[in-house]
Amino acid sequence: MEEIRRPEGMERITTAESAKAFIEEQIGLIREQVKDKKVLLALSGGVDSSVVAALLIKAVGQQLVCVHVNHGLLRKGEPEQVIQVFKNEMKANLIYVDASDRFLDKLAGVSDPEQKRKIIGGEFIEVFAEEARKLDGIEFLAQGTIWPDILESEAGIKAHHNAGGLPEDMKFELVEPVRILFKDEVRIVGKELGLPDNMVFRQPFPGPGLGVRCPGAITRDRLEAVRLSDAILREEFAKNGLEGKVWQYFTVVPDFKSTGVKNGKRTFDWPCIIRAINTTDVMEVTVEHLSDELIDHLVSRIISEVPGINRVLVDYTPKPPATVEYE
Ligand code: XMP
Repeated sequence: MEEIRRPEGMERITTAESAKAFIEEQIGLIREQVKDKKVLLALSGGVDSSVVAALLIKAVGQQLVCVHVNHGLLRKGEPEQVIQVFKNEMKANLIYVDASDRFLDKLAGVSDPEQKRKIIGGEFIEVFAEEARKLDGIEFLAQGTIWPDILESEAGIKAHHNAGGLPEDMKFELVEPVRILFKDEVRIVGKELGLPDNMVFRQPFPGPGLGVRCPGAITRDRLEAVRLSDAILREEFAKNGLEGKVWQYFTVVPDFKSTGVKNGKRTFDWPCIIRAINTTDVMEVTVEHLSDELIDHLVSRIISEVPGINRVLVDYTPKPPATVEYE
């Protein structure tokens, strides 16, 4: 198939009207390509795959089969939102696979960050391929490839994960309806397709998920402490008008413990680190300075609501010298 490229001088999609025109055009192109065949999509709930799902549902409805793999490292409420938006509201053909135990069992005792990433990535492909093999008559694989992915792979910056690294014997023709768009355009198209704001404008979230925020060997209890403290942070940022304003914010729970006191008794628990940053290119990052009042409130909520935490720290280190995540 001929490589589809962003036309030279293509006008940036900035309005609902131009998004509408793009959607109409893509629906036509998808129908022309797919005809009456079935399309498979790994739906993570991230912006790109969600927009691809919404476009394909409009274009070919039940011919699209979405697979949402819960690797156990998602944020609180994420799988529920994917099911609510795509299965309940958009009536998509959605297969939900809760593979949490499988991933967490494989990750048990593994502390090396690269090894953890390899296990998560490899296991993801395996679970997805297993689901694909159960289905009959799939000829196409949809992907949320966007224009910067193509540019970066051409410039040799990062390998474009074409076909998601599926096994050799699984050959599908690709459907990539947002491959000529920049990220901001994907968001406008997503909004026009009726996706919720907290999905379309959500902060970046790494593929290995909370796994990169639970340094060292992941344990279920410490992972739960990351998930609960992250949910509190997101809730408080939303309440305080920081959602959509701060580029990325999250919590990390490192694997060491120290002594504390609660209700007159000794505790021996983990610290929870808060990180909130701003950037444009992620090469250079500045920190968002939080108000004392907000920090006090976060400390008090995290300490009282998250089991296993007895201190809260705020990381005010820019990048460089630090990176964003704790790997
Ligand atoms: P670092 O820690 O390298 O992170 O300063 C830079 C940005 O990249 C995000 N990140 C990822 N995004 N898949 C992604 O889509 C990944 O595997 C991944 N790892 C890191 C990180 O959250 C930060 O915004």
